[in-house]
Amino acid sequence: PPVQPPAQPPAPTPGQPVPELFSWEFATDPYPAYAWLREHAPVHRTKLPSGVEAWLVTRYADAKQALADGRLSKNPAHHDEPAHAKGKTGIPGERKAELMTHLLNIDPPDHTRLRRLVSKAFTPRRVAEFGSRVQELTDQLIDEFAGKGEADLIHDFAFPLPIYAICDLLGVPREDQDDFRDWAGMMIRHGGGPRGGVARSVKKMRGYLAELIHRKRQELTDVPAPGEDLISGLIRASDHGEHLSENEAAAMAFILLFAGFETTVNLIGNGTYALLTHPGERRRLQDSLAAGRTDLLATGVEELLRYDGPVELATWRFATEPLSVGGQDIAAGDPVLVVLAAADRDPERFQHPDTLDLSRRDNQHLGYGHGIHYCLGAPLARLEGQTALATLLTRLPDLQLAGDSADLRWRGGLIMRGLRTLPVEFTPVATS
Ligand code: HEM
Repeated sequence: PPVQPPAQPPAPTPGQPVPELFSWEFATDPYPAYAWLREHAPVHRTKLPSGVEAWLVTRYADAKQALADGRLSKNPAHHDEPAHAKGKTGIPGERKAELMTHLLNIDPPDHTRLRRLVSKAFTPRRVAEFGSRVQELTDQLIDEFAGKGEADLIHDFAFPLPIYAICDLLGVPREDQDDFRDWAGMMIRHGGGPRGGVARSVKKMRGYLAELIHRKRQELTDVPAPGEDLISGLIRASDHGEHLSENEAAAMAFILLFAGFETTVNLIGNGTYALLTHPGERRRLQDSLAAGRTDLLATGVEELLRYDGPVELATWRFATEPLSVGGQDIAAGDPVLVVLAAADRDPERFQHPDTLDLSRRDNQHLGYGHGIHYCLGAPLARLEGQTALATLLTRLPDLQLAGDSADLRWRGGLIMRGLRTLPVEFTPVATS
């Protein structure tokens, strides 16, 4: 694409310094800085910690428009980054092309074809049928710490649940799932960067999946088995006579793991943290669960996604041509990051946006994105989030934070927002 000179950043309002972004304080609580940006510089060009310059879009209406705008491509080939910097930015796709050709990195028509095929295998029905297994996994994990009276809810609960769940759904044999737990642990501890142990873990995971897909392909018969796993479903899925190639199926299995793992860890972690620090809302939810109701749980998990969701910034987009977002000119080749966490606190869209209201109606939050890349795993994420939170609060009714919440550390990644640890205490309960 033609390279254009970068657009000028908007002049800061006199007397109002732009808040420091990406600092330690920002990682702990980015919401005041986002409120400032929404008000004073709603489409704001900034230098990211990696050195790359990108536009941050913070108002709800602009965010929604940008997420659905076909001129903003997901393909990193449209990035205008000088060639010498390529591979150093951490922008996905500047790394291993083969591994990275997946839904979040491609545009129509390829995206349309792949998404249609995966949607045939990864159906809401398949997820709903998985409900009892998610409940079983949740109970097993809680059993392991319920008698101790204390736990780190990230390490002991939020982290293992999604990885076992997605492995089970894909059809990774149980005896191999602890390897995935180790590889995923490496990825979450050290962020998605391309270096050292993370790169090795990604490679091992990808190699394992490719081999598993190859093996399952050999084993498939013409008649689908009842309760067939998702990988077999992916191999079998067809649309107008088209199938996923073995490579495409491997990339798909990988993105399901990758996109569905840390996000769900953070939904459970951030969600539990928000409940524990809002005792009135937590009591309301506990009472409604005790009365056998699930309506507040359903609206509550949506509200937790809006209030402090797992995905702070949507994944990268790149302008394929000059365009305007929220009145700001953006040049072709410029990276654009839509700040979901800022949009979902926009007072123009949500009443009392900084208040956690588990029964909030009219809650069209952007936590799962919007447009053609809208989260494919939303039904699974909802199932896991609702099961995890309801079971925790029901089985450990006096759960509370251990220590001061000011001591909690947030992981400082660019895209995701989540806690490193969440120490809790409760009255120990005997397990059968
Ligand atoms: C896409 C959020 C869980 C699979 C997305 C996007 C968001 C998101 C914001 C769009 C990104 C963009 O437009 O740049 C979340 C949240 C989750 C969650 C908040 C948990 C609470 C999952 C799970 C899976 C999954 C459990 C699968 C097992 C995907 C896939 C895409 C995606 C495959 C790409 C879709 C496409 O490009 O067409 N997710 N996600 N996600 N998500 Fe999720």
